[in-house]
Amino acid sequence: MYTPEVLISEEEIALRIEVLGEAISKEYANQELVVICVLKGAFIFCADLIKKINLPVKLEFITLASYGEGTQSSGNVKLEMDVTGSVEGRNILIVEDIVDSGLTIKTLIGLLEQRNPKSIKLASLLFKPSKVKHPVDIDYLGFEIEDKFVIGYGLDYAGRYRELPYIGVLNAGQ
Ligand code: PRP
Repeated sequence: MYTPEVLISEEEIALRIEVLGEAISKEYANQELVVICVLKGAFIFCADLIKKINLPVKLEFITLASYGEGTQSSGNVKLEMDVTGSVEGRNILIVEDIVDSGLTIKTLIGLLEQRNPKSIKLASLLFKPSKVKHPVDIDYLGFEIEDKFVIGYGLDYAGRYRELPYIGVLNAGQ
């Protein structure tokens, strides 16, 4: 059994997601929204968030990866799996688990802009301001966090810990 230290509890996450869901529902009232879940890390956040969005939502998945097995970004973002539908003329809401250096999101926004959507906004559960190298506007932010390697609620370390129901901190030796 391993029990990493809790940074943000299940309850805190759920409360914050309700607030974000309400704000998103208000902003796009009477419009359709294409939610793009950035795999793998955002899958739990995205699943919980769309349940709190009171709008017709089309869900897409995209897989981008830059961290591989380590705790440092490789500096190179790979598109491993693209969305399946057209986003031309649509309102896109990108759903991310974390904005760290900002490279993944900057790369993704650049890629989606070329497809002529109506709008692109970003929801991210976490943001590490101390690590940002490529500034991006986060329209719907869950929590700002310190520079700690976080795991759980979708986020991994070398493929592990995604199943934790809370955001935890990886300590040496785990
Ligand atoms: C993580 C995370 C973000 C990105 C953030 O993805 O899910 O997509 O890194 O880092 P950045 O702001 O420095 O680019 P990762 O490459 O670990 O893939 P995963 O989501 O499959 O775990």
